[in-house]
Amino acid sequence: MQFKSLPGFREFYPEDCALRNFIFERWRNAARRFGFSEWDAPALEPLELFTEKSGEEIVSQLFNFEDKGGRKVSLRPEMTPSLARLVAARAGSLRRPIKWFGIGENYRYEKQQRGRLRAFYQYNADILGEPSCAADAEIIALCVESLRMFGLSEADFCIRLSDRTLWFLFLENLGISEESTAVKVLAVVDKLERVAHDGLLEMMSTALAGTPLDPAGTLATIREFVALKSLGELNTFFSSRSGAEKALARLEEWKKLLSLLNAMGVGEFIRTDLTIVRGLAYYTGFVFEAFQLVGEGRALAGGGRYDKLVKKLGGPDMPAVGFGMGDVTLRNLLEQQELLPQIGDAPDFYAIILGEENRTEALSDVALLRACGFRVEYAFKDGKFGKLIQAAEQTGARYALIYGTNELALGVVKVRDTRERREIAFPRENLAGTLSEILEFGLPVVEEPHCHGDGSCGGHCTCGKHSHD
Ligand code: HAM
Repeated sequence: MQFKSLPGFREFYPEDCALRNFIFERWRNAARRFGFSEWDAPALEPLELFTEKSGEEIVSQLFNFEDKGGRKVSLRPEMTPSLARLVAARAGSLRRPIKWFGIGENYRYEKQQRGRLRAFYQYNADILGEPSCAADAEIIALCVESLRMFGLSEADFCIRLSDRTLWFLFLENLGISEESTAVKVLAVVDKLERVAHDGLLEMMSTALAGTPLDPAGTLATIREFVALKSLGELNTFFSSRSGAEKALARLEEWKKLLSLLNAMGVGEFIRTDLTIVRGLAYYTGFVFEAFQLVGEGRALAGGGRYDKLVKKLGGPDMPAVGFGMGDVTLRNLLEQQELLPQIGDAPDFYAIILGEENRTEALSDVALLRACGFRVEYAFKDGKFGKLIQAAEQTGARYALIYGTNELALGVVKVRDTRERREIAFPRENLAGTLSEILEFGLPVVEEPHCHGDGSCGGHCTCGKHSHD
């Protein structure tokens, strides 16, 4: 019987691991440049960490169970509640602003489809302890930079920017001041792009139940609102509505944020898009999504401000803003745009050991070269020269090191360029130094010693007439 992995879970063959590492390295590189430090937390957490703090949708997708000690636990569907807990526990001693990033596997029991799996890696970057939009700007700029690192440009993705604070002010202006009703209405807004009009109307009627508001009229005004695509249009819209002073004041924050983003050179990526409200319950202010513009439009990353979460998890009042970026959609996009590199896993050198009696000497060189940081392989079993050369070539090693009885007697090792198929003997003394020069500059070009086919050249030619045993 052959076992299969679970649906929505990936296996990583070496080539997949190499690409995963490539993505992680670029993410790490971007975060470090922005001055972020790496953190991590357990993948298995107490269930209640997620049930109250995340959104309803995520909670319905939890991989949760009771452990053998009767604890209710869940695999993490996201990293933000764990981050807030870590920060809450040491809030007094951490230097602020706290700029942390993490990369970890997350698990969501959702319907598997292209770009969405049940286990995926997510790169998170968050700033805690800074209430001003300077932190939002830094986070959005890092999100852009983390995608630009792969060669993606404004033709490939944009940042759709929205604002839950502005949404709450707008809904208040419409007459929805009860927070629980506003949250229900935002859940309908979240579905605007995915559900047909009749379905939306039904959802809106449920959300507005118990209020005097007309669902169809409210939906129409909301459609008018989400059609606004710039700060100028937002200003005009709120200027024409009475009692919208707070919303107009909030637009001053928008102005500041946009000017910071322009100053950081990422302005061309930003698009005002009020359809973005984010499904997660804890967001409080600016929210955004990095959205793919080529092929099927998918979210590459999502984030925003969540100023109340740390306090809810037992910490002090601590403002926070951050994003999460998944590896699945990003890898698909990079593949589509041919931006994934061919990653080779070849050794630097392959030692060809001719004769078991020479193995001890050869392996002492292998160990020494490995200790110097070279990647070295060799065949575990003795074999004919031709077979061993073939094995060396198959690994992709550019150079083979030939250890035959003659070479060892002369205190040399022959270095063979597996592509050009030429060899030169070098003393075994200071081999690591010699080989590092060869890796950098190639095998030296030397005039081939005259060969009579009788071995008088010392085997330094490539005539192929010498026995190498
Ligand atoms: P999220 O929007 O739920 O936000 O996820 C962020 C990103 O994770 C998505 O844009 C997507 O790239 C990836 N992702 C989510 N679910 C899946 C899935 N089932 N399969 C593959 N990729 C997926 C959060 O998780 C927030 N905690 C982000 C955050 C950090 N906010 C503040 N700090």
